[in-house]
Amino acid sequence: MPLLAATPDNIARAARLLRDGRLVAFPTETVYGLGADATNGLAVAAIFEAKGRPHFNPLIVHVADAADAEALAHFTPLARHLAEAFWPGPLTLVLARLPTSSIAELATAGLDTVAIRIPSDPVARALIRAAGRPIAAPSANRSGHVSATEAGHVADDLGDRVAMILDGGPCVAGVESTVLDVSGAVPVLLRLGAVTVEEIARAIGQPPIAALAQTKRPLSPGQLASHYAPRARVRLEASSVRPGEALLAFGATLPPHAGAMFNLSAAGDLRQAAAHLFSALRKLDASGAPCIAVMPIPDTGLGAAINDRLRRAAEPR
Ligand code: TXA
Ligand code: MG
Repeated sequence: MPLLAATPDNIARAARLLRDGRLVAFPTETVYGLGADATNGLAVAAIFEAKGRPHFNPLIVHVADAADAEALAHFTPLARHLAEAFWPGPLTLVLARLPTSSIAELATAGLDTVAIRIPSDPVARALIRAAGRPIAAPSANRSGHVSATEAGHVADDLGDRVAMILDGGPCVAGVESTVLDVSGAVPVLLRLGAVTVEEIARAIGQPPIAALAQTKRPLSPGQLASHYAPRARVRLEASSVRPGEALLAFGATLPPHAGAMFNLSAAGDLRQAAAHLFSALRKLDASGAPCIAVMPIPDTGLGAAINDRLRRAAEPR
């Protein structure tokens, strides 16, 4: 893992690594981010694996300018006003995702919304611009650890798991971005952060609704027992396929099946399986089968996260 000063040459190298689907840790004004090409499902899967993130929480997508943001999501007048007021800067806006968006399903955890921000850190912006892709990036720490605000923290936590760490010195803000959901009629605060509630209230003439006070949407998408649920029923640990069922397969040896089938990974590779999971469920759902039979998937590494999602999908609703 090279830890390199954020010179123009090294930023260009980091951008090439990102385009090749590798992980690059980079400074932002809030915390260091663990970045990957947000349009590459395998690269995004590698983020979850490297962090040891127990759930597929959706990730923030970082872009270089407003035009790039508008290509990914629907901006209401309120959202545009907030973007103009706070971007570039540490405000993350949760917006309705455009169907034409190039973002990998895994980056948004299969949600209809996408969290976007334009970082103000000059290294971060230069990197995103040079990569020419939206960059998905959670905080660059092992899951459960405190966030990394210096390149050395990243090296301690994730040094053996990233292709490069760009050292831009200590982060200016040191706390994560404020997350504000503006996909609906009223802004809802999902996470306190580097932009204050007062600053938001000044910009829009009213304070945002605190997420705890609202009940319609889950605070954290992973909290509901039944979630990530396709229309079809989901039957886990299937060793055979019943008449009419679609098959969500894993590995090289498949049971006899007649209907729709998607193999998450013929090679039995959990990273590949994670990258395919949500699109596989959607495809099998679209086949019209009333039930999706899911083959057993090892409960280790990324498999635990895959099984967590599948269990939620199978939960009675
Ligand atoms: O300052 C930051 O935001 C840093 C730097 C690297 O940009 N990133 C960061 O990412 O803190 P992370 O993954 O640690 O936190 C992202 C937060 C999570 O609470 C996640 O649930 C929420 O944003 N989030 C992301 N997409 C969402 C969505 N579509 N709907 C609701 N919440 C979302
Ligand atoms: Mg975090």
